[in-house]
Amino acid sequence: MSGAWSLFVSLLTLGTLAGLLWLLLATRKGERQKPGEETLKHSFDGIEEYDNPLPRWWFWLFIATLVFAVLYLLLYPGLGNWRGLLPGYDWLDSERQVRFADGQRGWSGVHEWEKEMAQAEARYGPIFARFASMPLEQVAKEPQALQIGARLFAANCAVCHGSDAKGAYGFPNLTDAYWRWGGDPQSIKTSILNGRQAVMPAWGAVLGEQGVRDVAAYVLAGMGRELPADAQADPQAGEKLYATTCIACHGPQRQGNPLLGAPDLTQPGAYIYGTRFDQVQQSIRQGRQGQMPAQQASQGDDRVHILAAYIYSLSQPPAPTPAPPAQAVSSPTPP
Ligand code: HEC
Ligand code: HEC
Repeated sequence: MSGAWSLFVSLLTLGTLAGLLWLLLATRKGERQKPGEETLKHSFDGIEEYDNPLPRWWFWLFIATLVFAVLYLLLYPGLGNWRGLLPGYDWLDSERQVRFADGQRGWSGVHEWEKEMAQAEARYGPIFARFASMPLEQVAKEPQALQIGARLFAANCAVCHGSDAKGAYGFPNLTDAYWRWGGDPQSIKTSILNGRQAVMPAWGAVLGEQGVRDVAAYVLAGMGRELPADAQADPQAGEKLYATTCIACHGPQRQGNPLLGAPDLTQPGAYIYGTRFDQVQQSIRQGRQGQMPAQQASQGDDRVHILAAYIYSLSQPPAPTPAPPAQAVSSPTPP
């Protein structure tokens, strides 16, 4: 913080404290008024407002909080660049002293935070490390890992993919059978670790309005959808355009390509930008650039491993319930 800012912050803080003290003293009433002058002389519905001084203990409580504030600001770093008096004392736990960038020692909340992080790491580190050494398919069957995964998901992923991981407009559903970048455990992990950048070019300028309508009609036909009555579009002409402009990414059968993140256009469940005629046209005309942010830097490899196992488990069918024992099935026949 520059010297001027430091001074500004300090003056503002101390000024506020002084102002509060002044307010307290200025509004304090010493003696109670003469009898008969105890009220503010207005009443409503038979209720009169009294004008009594603050109880003494209350007044001193205010003073005590102000004294506390001043002491606190002297001891701890709270006033601009002031570092507090605490580190001057030898009796203070040397562990609580931190060196600042300029080499000086002092107390700092950063240190408290680092200590908490270290404690959490000591507690969870070994658990994460144990799962990290197991294959993803196996981690996906560990109840403890799934529990941790669900918490990590709620904290880091639910904002975009929804708290139930079922996605929303523009954000894929992670619990179904449709994957843009592949639904095997390793592909899921890569999606999370490195992020994904989808590139669907804008075709409006290349194909023209009629071209966009025609190719959109061909896409709808691939889903087995009826065209709206006023579509004015020719799926056969669209098929030709598809073969020259779309096939490289979405494949000859419109089935998509996980290497490019191109979705399967024959499955309505695979769309994240809508399957209506106008929505499909919009995707084609203006292109789409969905982005999945990389998590390696913020989560680290071990957490991503657990997250990937959790996501993988969401799309797996639940384990078949074991068949009941044979004798339970054949109920005794009544005599
Ligand atoms: C360079 C590769 C590429 C080409 C060429 C391409 N696409 Fe795409 N397309 C993609 C990708 C990648 C996505 C996913 C975009 C996203 O997730 O944000 C996509 C998304 C779409 C969508 C939206 C699907 C959804 O999730 O709602 C439609 C519709 C579509 N493409 C149709 C076409 C058509 C029709 C053509 C040809 C005119 C075409 N694409 C050409 C790569 C391509
Ligand atoms: C800022 C929003 C955002 C956040 C946060 C986010 N994602 Fe995503 N994620 C996306 C988008 C958008 C896509 C689709 C990218 C595309 O269009 O291809 C995606 C794609 C994915 C995919 C690939 C899906 C597929 O069909 O192949 C996985 C797996 C995934 N996310 C998992 C996660 C996990 C786990 C987290 C939490 C650590 C997370 N995401 C956090 C936006 C987000």
